[in-house]
Order: sequence, then C-alpha cells, then structure tokens
Amino acid sequence: MASAPPLTDSFGRIHNNLRISVTDRCNIRCFYCMPETDVKFVQRREILDFEEIERFVRIAVKLGVTKLRVTGGEPLVRRDLPVLIRRLAAIPEIQDLALTTNGVLLPELAGPLYEAGLRRINVHLDTLDRARFAQITRRDDLGRVLAGLETVKRLGYGPIKLNAVAVKNLVEPDLVPLAHYARENGFEVRFIEFMPLDAQSLWDRGKVLLAEDIIRVLSREIAPLVEIPDRDPRAPALEYRFADGVGRVGFIASVSRPFCLNCNRIRLTADGKLRYCLFAIEEDDVKGLLRGGASDDEIAALIRRNVAGKWEGHEINSSRFVAPPRPMYSIGG
Ligand code: 5AD
Ligand code: SF4
Repeated sequence: MASAPPLTDSFGRIHNNLRISVTDRCNIRCFYCMPETDVKFVQRREILDFEEIERFVRIAVKLGVTKLRVTGGEPLVRRDLPVLIRRLAAIPEIQDLALTTNGVLLPELAGPLYEAGLRRINVHLDTLDRARFAQITRRDDLGRVLAGLETVKRLGYGPIKLNAVAVKNLVEPDLVPLAHYARENGFEVRFIEFMPLDAQSLWDRGKVLLAEDIIRVLSREIAPLVEIPDRDPRAPALEYRFADGVGRVGFIASVSRPFCLNCNRIRLTADGKLRYCLFAIEEDDVKGLLRGGASDDEIAALIRRNVAGKWEGHEINSSRFVAPPRPMYSIGG
C-alpha cells in the first residue's frame, strides 16, 4: 500500500487532512454547539480506544493523509490524551499535528501535551468579558482559559490561534477587545461564522455575523485590514493582516464564502464514523470494521469509498439545505 494514489473525490479534490474527534463530552456548554442540559453522550464502550485510533491513522497516512487535528467535544477531557498525542506524533508521515480545545484544562495539560510532541493549538475564545463568557458557555471559566493561554504561550507553542464564533447581536462588543488581546499576545484570532450545527436549532441566517461586517469594524477601530493574497488555497480561513504590521486575523466564512471547492478534509467521529463533510448526512462505520476483524486493506477501501462519494459541498445558502443529524460536539468541528 506504500505508494497508493491519493484520496481523490469525483470533483478532483485531494484529501490529506484528517480531523479526529476523541470524545463528544465537554466541560462547558456553548449555546451554539450544545444544549444546556440533558446532553446525550455516546456510551463509553462506543468510543474508539487509542489502539483503534492509531490503527486508523496509520492506514489513512498510507493514503496520503499528512495533516491531523484532534478535536472533541472537548479533547482535553479524554483521559490520558497526552498518551494518544505521543503515539500520533510518532507517525512519520504526519507533517502537521494540531489540537482544538476550549482551553479550560490547559493550565494542567498544556505541559504534558507539549512534552508529548504537540506544538500547534487552537483555543476557542469568544469574549474577554466574564459575564458574556458565562452567558455563551453557561460556565464561569474565563479565568482558566486565559491562564491556559498564558501557559501555552510561555511553553512556546506556535502558532497559537483563537477561534471565536461570530454570532450577530451578541459578540459585537467583543470584536475589538479580542483583536487587541490577540495582537498583544502574538495570537491569531479567527472568526468563524455561526453555522447551523447547534443542538437546539437556534441558527438562522439573521444570527450570522458576516466576515465583511467584522472586517469593517476592525479596520475602523484598530487599523485597516489587508487581505493576504498568497495564503494556502486549501486553508478554509481568509487571512488578513493589520496594515500597521501588528497581527493577523482570519475568517472562516462558511456561510458568506463557502470554501467547499477547496475542501481537503475527512472526519473521524469519537464513535468511529467517517464523514466526508461537516454537514454530511450519511457516514461510514469504521468502528464496525475495526472491531470486526477487518484487514487494513478493507479499512483503506472504506476510506476511499467515503471520499469518492463526497458531495460537491454544503448548501447552507440554498433552500435544499438540511442540517446534519449530529450537532457540532459530536462531529468535532
Ligand atoms: N458554528 C460555528 N462554529 C462553531 N463551533 C462550535 N459550534 C459552532 C457553530 N455552530 C466552533 C468552536 C470550536 C470549533 C471546533 O467549532 O469555535 O472551537
Ligand atoms: Fe464544548 Fe466546543 Fe461545543 Fe463549546 S463548542 S460546548 S467548548 S464542544
């Protein structure tokens, strides 16, 4: 299988980017992702163990996967996560290993994760205001997240990115303070347009704060934002820099500027389902194969089949759009 052809779909997109959700559990309750109470979590025995995850990744890298991102739920609530990171970091084909976290457990875990080989981290942070943080996440943990960010900075992680979900009539007061905070600390802040993936069907188009509106505010209040033209065409974020030379801002404009055309991602859920799109309706059962004695070739064939069947893109902007049956926390973002 060593020189297998790349994972190409019927639109010619080559897939080298795998996102692995290691748990659907989370220690906070962001309203755009989770319900406030009675969250339905997957049973523990349904969650892939580290052997199963590593085996899957080792098969995927033979098909050309070189980039890996570990997600959740909140990945840091998965017991012994540094053990998994060490095993993934040791896979020679992986050129880029990253993690997305809400940051609450970073004060304790940033050190062990760094030792295990992790260098790249995205921390979810919508606001620097304690009351609004509590309103959005239904938990009073802003202090821990900020302490976690200080820890990753001190340890030498890089690049460090902040993810903020852009929800209209809510986060407007946070835009400028977040951008200042990021500039001062050498972090890149990325605004992600609110997507229809919340668990309570709160989303509608009118609640999306669009990238262009944020660009206007930051340009006026801080310094003009200039698009960085030579960005990686496969990266979902539109990248801008401040004209005064201090700091960058990214926009994941999934609603106003979908990037499906350049998508290179596949996703493995915590319960072992393979998804070719965040918004996919159908998924393939990897866990059944992993636990049913399938060979590596059979699992590779399943990955190929999943990618080959990938649709052109989500249709958030059309009346045909159907929200996926899984909310964000059980896909992993
Ligand atoms: N729309 C957009 N982004 C979301 N996230 C969670 N829910 C949503 C949503 N409904 C983001 C969080 C997290 C990342 C994995 O996904 O910022 O960091
Ligand atoms: Fe937890 Fe992330 Fe969902 Fe917030 S967005 S509830 S941090 S999984």
